[in-house]
Amino acid sequence: MSEIRITPSILNADLTKIDSEIAKIAQVSDLLHLDIMDNKFVPNQTWNFESAHKIISNSPIPVDAHLMIADPDIQARRYAEIGCRSVTVHFEACENVSIVLKSIRSAGARSALALKPKTDFAVLKSYREQLDMILIMTVEPGFGGQKFMVEMMDKVRKSREFIGDADIWLQVDGGISIETIEIAREAGADTFVAGSAVFKASDPADMVLQLRKLAAGK
Ligand code: DX5
Ligand code: ZN
Repeated sequence: MSEIRITPSILNADLTKIDSEIAKIAQVSDLLHLDIMDNKFVPNQTWNFESAHKIISNSPIPVDAHLMIADPDIQARRYAEIGCRSVTVHFEACENVSIVLKSIRSAGARSALALKPKTDFAVLKSYREQLDMILIMTVEPGFGGQKFMVEMMDKVRKSREFIGDADIWLQVDGGISIETIEIAREAGADTFVAGSAVFKASDPADMVLQLRKLAAGK
């Protein structure tokens, strides 16, 4: 199957020293997962565009921006323009999914669509040509440290089948740890967000390596 990517989320890192937290995992991670929340689409707030821009500019590794915001139709393109490698918007928040995905790609980033737990897999079907990544949420978006929803694996399996031989990454986000990553891998995920598992570990880089090994079936 496809290549594996580990994309740590800094949501639950020590935000008083973001740069040194990112430095802990940069050598061993594929992308940095940045959770943008506006307290409208989800009941929590993180970075606004300006503060995210600073993190993105200073990051030693490419950034995977996960936009949990109410106005992705306006904002997504801006995140692509400032150099994010990948920009993910939520199906539930977009007014026009196709236009948003196209705007991300045309600004030079990988375009990705996220589905909340209650959103059906079938909504993806219209967008196969415009997608570079699918994100299946394995918790309700908004907070780190929640329990992995194993019942989402059916959606992951269906997404894997839907992807076929297309160059579309399949990401899972929420509750990924050494206890759950193999379950998600077996269902077909190839790109794994891990927040608290990585940053609450005594050695975050070693945790990324352990997660990678488990996902690779080693
Ligand atoms: C939750 C965010 C996640 C979060 C994951 O809405 O999208 O990226 O940081 O945290 P863990 O890995 O702790 O579930
Ligand atoms: Zn996320």
